[in-house]
Amino acid sequence: MNTKYEEAIKKLEKYNQKHVINILETIEENKKENLINQILDLNFESIINLYEELSNKKEIKIDNIEPIKAIKKEQLDDKELNKYIKLGEDIIKSNKFALATMSGGQGTRLGFNGPKGTFKVNIEPKPKYLFEILADSLKEINKKYNVTIPWYIMTSEENNDSIEDFFNKNNYFDYDKSYVKFFKQGNLPLLSKEGKILIDENYNIKQAADGNGGIFSSMYKNGIIDDIKNRDIKWVFIGSIDNILLKVADPLLIGISESKGIQIATKSIPKNSPQEKVGAICKQNGSIKVIEYSEMPKEIAEARDENNELIYGESHIMCNLFSSEALQKLGKEKLPYHIAFKKYNYIDENGKFVVAENPNAYKFESFIFDSFTYFNDIAVLRGKREEDFAPIKNKEGVDSPSTAVELYNNYKKSIIN
Ligand code: UD1
Repeated sequence: MNTKYEEAIKKLEKYNQKHVINILETIEENKKENLINQILDLNFESIINLYEELSNKKEIKIDNIEPIKAIKKEQLDDKELNKYIKLGEDIIKSNKFALATMSGGQGTRLGFNGPKGTFKVNIEPKPKYLFEILADSLKEINKKYNVTIPWYIMTSEENNDSIEDFFNKNNYFDYDKSYVKFFKQGNLPLLSKEGKILIDENYNIKQAADGNGGIFSSMYKNGIIDDIKNRDIKWVFIGSIDNILLKVADPLLIGISESKGIQIATKSIPKNSPQEKVGAICKQNGSIKVIEYSEMPKEIAEARDENNELIYGESHIMCNLFSSEALQKLGKEKLPYHIAFKKYNYIDENGKFVVAENPNAYKFESFIFDSFTYFNDIAVLRGKREEDFAPIKNKEGVDSPSTAVELYNNYKKSIIN
């Protein structure tokens, strides 16, 4: 313990983290040992490099961009449409398709105390949990094609245990357990404005999930990519937990991707206004790119073409399809990080618990769509909002449970009639 303690102190001094030395002095033995181990394990070098690189970065430059053309279903003739759908259906029927769900996020905006997938929505004919909606959609597809689709669920350090408990308690919503695999995404420490690590109320280094772009490396580290290979799966659809109209297996999207011989595809919808909080799919310097709503300059977001359509209105709605080769490649890549300044409570150097009233710490995240840049081509299939996108992001107002439920119920009614 003593030598470990000394090593930890040296490390804290070297990386300018002396506030933690004070905290170490004040805490009881077992907590102290735990914190020392975390200090020894942490790669300070890489997190401080990230901080230095990103906290000083000037505004992100959005230049040399061009729109990307989407394939519109209604522009395909019957022959083409049927060809693609058959190709996609053949892939599903021959057990070459899997679903991955990203549920490692914190769902802060929804203000729900628990993993977002365990949130219940009041849809007709009976209320269901978000995970249950996905399980039921998968079961429907399984029944139609007489298969069982493997389901990979990304969790985080923070919510993995509650998600696994939830599935156990609900008997996996009658999904075949041997086809469901949970895997945890990575964590990264939070840093104060001055580049100091934060200590939480249990005397751990405060960390947060490393963003939904962490899915590729965590699939790789947790053996999911091997599982995909062993099951001889060709296409994996990666979707979010919060879209209750998510089509978990769309034969048209799969068929188009297969027939074009490309590695990645995505489904989009037209933005409903320049301000809608969705990323825009486009190209930058010739590379496939999604410009996130928070990074999109107003004049570009508002630009319209001769038909009055938004030029950069092809929304990224988290409906992304990757070939198994694409996943293998991405599993070993290092996606870039983005930085956000947020509010986090912490223990200060005098051992006092501080409730943050204002943003006080940097969070580092990678984004799934930054993976697109690693490929020369992408198929963008334009779907329809009323069929494909009913997100639950906020507690009230836009993209809230009530707007999503309305879209969901209307869609279900429309397919019965
Ligand atoms: C995201 C997209 C945005 C898109 C919108 C559509 C990013 C950065 N932005 O925005 O382009 O238009 O969805 O709904 O992807 N998640 C994790 N781990 C994390 C963080 C998030 O698994 O560390 C998951 C969430 O659980 C959720 C999904 O990622 O399933 C998207 O969540 P969120 O990060 O809140 O994205 P948005 O800001 O809504």
